[in-house]
Amino acid sequence: MKQYQIAVLEGDGIGPEIIREGVKVLRAAAEIGGISLGLNYYPYGAEHYLKTGEILPDAAIREFRDSNAIYFGAAGDPQVAPGILEVGLILKIRFDLDQYINLRPIKLYPNVWTPLKTEAPIDFYVIRENAEDFYNGMGAIFRSNGQRDQTHHCEMSMKRVPYQINMTLDSRMDASDDYAVAMGVITRQGAERAMRYSFELARAKGKKKVTAVDKVNVLPHVYGLWREVFAEVARDYPEIETENSFADATAMWFVKNPENYGVVVMPNLFGDVITDLGAEITGGLGFAAGGNINPKGVSMFEPIHGSAPKYKGLNVINPVATILSGGMLLENIGEQALGELVERAVTEVLREGRVRTKDMGGTSTTSDMGDAIAAKVRELGRS
Ligand code: IPM
Ligand code: MN
Repeated sequence: MKQYQIAVLEGDGIGPEIIREGVKVLRAAAEIGGISLGLNYYPYGAEHYLKTGEILPDAAIREFRDSNAIYFGAAGDPQVAPGILEVGLILKIRFDLDQYINLRPIKLYPNVWTPLKTEAPIDFYVIRENAEDFYNGMGAIFRSNGQRDQTHHCEMSMKRVPYQINMTLDSRMDASDDYAVAMGVITRQGAERAMRYSFELARAKGKKKVTAVDKVNVLPHVYGLWREVFAEVARDYPEIETENSFADATAMWFVKNPENYGVVVMPNLFGDVITDLGAEITGGLGFAAGGNINPKGVSMFEPIHGSAPKYKGLNVINPVATILSGGMLLENIGEQALGELVERAVTEVLREGRVRTKDMGGTSTTSDMGDAIAAKVRELGRS
């Protein structure tokens, strides 16, 4: 029997509830596939931090490296200042494990409400570059009184940037006003691996077009290099159509003609913003799954939504995003057929339309949805 070790981080707020349903479905799939999933739970998140002051020890990262994948719920709590868990927990995992691809499918499932006028099917992929751009956190606030608060939170990205550029943040001129600087970094290697992954995904999923998003009209340096590398990588994939699109226009086209997309590759920060929009045109955050992927390392799967603290413990949140992320996890560890089975089960339960959570205008609970999808996995898997 094939055995896999999965690190599970439920996190905060609704995290434990959605992970419970995700695990239910993973277990059903494992049973059908005759595989064994060893689930190793970790306590990290707001509660653990408030109790112990610890965010995520390096020892945990070492254990994650020995796992086949990470399954993550959601982190964040109003009692913890913004940024602490985002940087110390989520970004730390993404950066330390070099999960440089953030794969976010944008798909409208049957019977799911969209605010769009279009009747056309929506089914494409966003690849958000996940290790560079403005997410390295390099920057500083310079106060006119001489004080300076300087940060960065991605060693890897810092190392790729020549020392002198880092030092420009140190050599400030006297200023009469406070000012702040953030430095976005795109490297050739960083852009290239995101572009290649996008073209390979287009090939694998039969998508005809790859669109690269930027804002080269305003930031010609970072996004100039991004666009240059896109054109170069595209030459290796002559059968795939390519397109460049500005970030602002992309937001507009997502609403106007989402059916025109195949694979869309975006720098980190635009990708963060625009994938929330992508979620909303396909039923909301309750349906938006994602994976932080290192194709040669350990990847982490999580819904793109947050911990929704005000719904904690109410059993009303839609677990589909987490369940679909679990399906992506199975595909990632090499259980392609089981990943597809989970997605088919979700599609079928939504098509039948009997189980509808609060966000879908229904009264079904988080566990009703998990139960129905797990049962469907067994039903489809046996037939
Ligand atoms: C996301 C989240 C994260 C991000 C935060 C929590 C660090 O918004 O996964 O989209 O900005 O990437
Ligand atoms: Mn986000």
